[in-house]
Amino acid sequence: MTVIKPVFHHVTIKTSRLAEMVAWYEKVLGVRVQFRDANNAWTTNDAANHRVAFLSTPALTDDPDKMRHNGMHHSAFEYAGFGDLITSYERMKTEGIVPSFCLDHGLTISFYYKDPEGNFVELQSDNFGDWAKSSEFMRTSPEFAANPIGYFFDPDKVAHAHRAGVAFKEIQQAIRANEYPPATPPDLGIAM
Ligand SMILES: [Fe+2]
Repeated sequence: MTVIKPVFHHVTIKTSRLAEMVAWYEKVLGVRVQFRDANNAWTTNDAANHRVAFLSTPALTDDPDKMRHNGMHHSAFEYAGFGDLITSYERMKTEGIVPSFCLDHGLTISFYYKDPEGNFVELQSDNFGDWAKSSEFMRTSPEFAANPIGYFFDPDKVAHAHRAGVAFKEIQQAIRANEYPPATPPDLGIAM
């Protein structure tokens, strides 16, 4: 039987902090609220009716052992290019929102932010500017097979290099040579 493929549409998060979560996603993703009531909210940052939604009930609580329990690690959103990713990093930094860790995955540059309840949101740009090329890289590159997680870096150092006019390819080479090491150990939000 042929599988008729549906298109990915939205994620819905259980929360005890509805107002705080909506405010955070407004700042990070630029979502707007389409509808909200006392316990729930549906938001979007594009033409879809909703992309990120929130449900809350009085029975929900935080998971003190979230790092060791199974579940979704992150959602991810892609900018048109590296410049938008860096500009957004700089904007959010002025608002006190900074990533928990940053990686060059080979196929993307990715900044991982932790929302107020410990769900990660990955903000990325495609290193090839072309999904066909980055898909090909993922499937066939020995480099990706050898290191599918990638290379950690310090976002301030990378943003500074970008603002100084260093070309993206040079920045990427420097990340891979560990010339922009993170100042603090990355918080991956997952037990090892
Ligand atoms: Fe991801």
